[in-house]
Amino acid sequence: MNVTSIATRPFDDQRPGTAGLRKKTRVFTQPGYLENFLQAVFDTVPDLRGGTLVAGGDGRYFNREALATLVGLAAGNGVRRLIIGQGGILSTPAASHLIRSRRADGGFLLTASHNPGGPDGDFGVKFNVASGGQAPESLTEAVYQASSALGRYLIADVSPPDLDRIGEQAAGEMIVEVVDPVGDYAALMERLFDFDRLRDLLTGGFRFRFDALHAVTGPYARDIFVNRLGAPEDSVLNGVPLPDFGGGHPDPNPVDAKHLVALMAAPDAPEFAAASDGDGDRNMILGRSFAVSPGDSLAVLAAQAHRVPGYADGLAGVARSMPTSRAVDAVAARLGIPCFETPTGWRFFCNLLEDGRIDLCGEESYGTSSSHAREKDGLWAVLFWLNLIAVSGRSVEELVRAHWTDFGRNAFRRHDYFVPEAARAAAVMEQLTGRLDSLPGSQGSGGVIDRAESFSYEDPVDGSVSANQGIRVFFDNGDRIVYRLSGTGTSGATLRVYLDRPVRGDDPSLPADGAAVGDLGGQAHELGDITRLTGLKEPTGVI
Ligand code: G1P
Ligand code: ZN
Repeated sequence: MNVTSIATRPFDDQRPGTAGLRKKTRVFTQPGYLENFLQAVFDTVPDLRGGTLVAGGDGRYFNREALATLVGLAAGNGVRRLIIGQGGILSTPAASHLIRSRRADGGFLLTASHNPGGPDGDFGVKFNVASGGQAPESLTEAVYQASSALGRYLIADVSPPDLDRIGEQAAGEMIVEVVDPVGDYAALMERLFDFDRLRDLLTGGFRFRFDALHAVTGPYARDIFVNRLGAPEDSVLNGVPLPDFGGGHPDPNPVDAKHLVALMAAPDAPEFAAASDGDGDRNMILGRSFAVSPGDSLAVLAAQAHRVPGYADGLAGVARSMPTSRAVDAVAARLGIPCFETPTGWRFFCNLLEDGRIDLCGEESYGTSSSHAREKDGLWAVLFWLNLIAVSGRSVEELVRAHWTDFGRNAFRRHDYFVPEAARAAAVMEQLTGRLDSLPGSQGSGGVIDRAESFSYEDPVDGSVSANQGIRVFFDNGDRIVYRLSGTGTSGATLRVYLDRPVRGDDPSLPADGAAVGDLGGQAHELGDITRLTGLKEPTGVI
């Protein structure tokens, strides 16, 4: 096998964000850009030499070409075995599971999640470690440092493998093993959930729709819902993955998937609908004319977990990202289990999962998962909800309302401000940071500020500290506002403002959606001096 060392010059923008390196597709297709980043990972993780690597992506534009490049670099850097999902496809949770079940030394996930795909869209690369979880900050920083000083990459002259043929093929001295992307994952779901009860539900006249949004979950949903559980074919919508996701924005939330919300508001609506995102790790759960807020979803799953086979023995603990609504905290307190509060980004849950401290975790950004993987998992959440419906005989809305009555409710909403000029979004954070000491004591419309701070997290497992993870403002009436800057964008900056207001769970006069936060968004806008600093009079997105 002929390995060539190709001279290259470093790119200065290869610092991974909230979830891997995410850039415009055209940035990734520049000569040397992908090669450099991959080489920086190989240089930083020496265990990959002689080791096993998993790779696959969400099927977006450039997926196959990027995998062909990876094959050359993996062989050039001495990888012994490269396991790839057939057709280059692997959902993020399935990739995480495969890394773990095959005891691989790591994996490359080619995805920009819910960001649009195509030549004018986005592309991304995430490196996951041997536990199946996203690389920790110390590692992504080391990769960035390596990328900034890179002078060459190593590429083997091997013929490209046939990614559509299941089985082993040689690529120089490396073995490429093409595997069914669905089978292992579906078998894991069968172990966690009561497939007999689910089959009874889905073949018994219960009407449901799962929308794959032309992204990676199509083949998974077909195999699980139609083949294994007997649901009618038309239960899976937009089930064929397309390189540009059919021109859509594959993000399962009531704004980007409003067609599904409309479907559920129609007179002949099915009883349940759900969707997942580009790479299959997010989920949205809808009942008839009712959308489940992600923070509520996490809380309901935690409270009801004992009714599902995989969690019948109880939960060691739960965790939520800091900006996520505090609904799950009340469940943890009732169950007498710990509830951890981590910075935004799934990687912060991984140490807690790995150390056995938690079994369920979630984020307000439509992400939920458990100790079965080290990534969030869209289809897992859908199966969990269906399992609860099957064993309780209740609808989605009944389950949530009963939960609110029992535990109380945290009304929640997120306001996003997309600011083309990144510095102006940063200015909001700077002025708030400068006022942290003077804020306590000032009157908002609902309450008085009694605490304002910049969130810093000390990982209880490895002691690492992540500072500046968002500003949180607490009011004496229980309201909470959080401000932070997005770490997944590929241009400009997005200021995220998270609103959490505790309300009475059984108050029928309150809206069932995020509008129940009332005037908290207006208060947050004023407190952040957002109009003056960004020029925006209102949020550009409300989720
Ligand atoms: C967003 C979400 C965050 C999630 C991440 C990856 O990151 O807010 O919860 O983990 O996408 O899906 P952000 O753009 O806010 O940095
Ligand atoms: Zn995703």
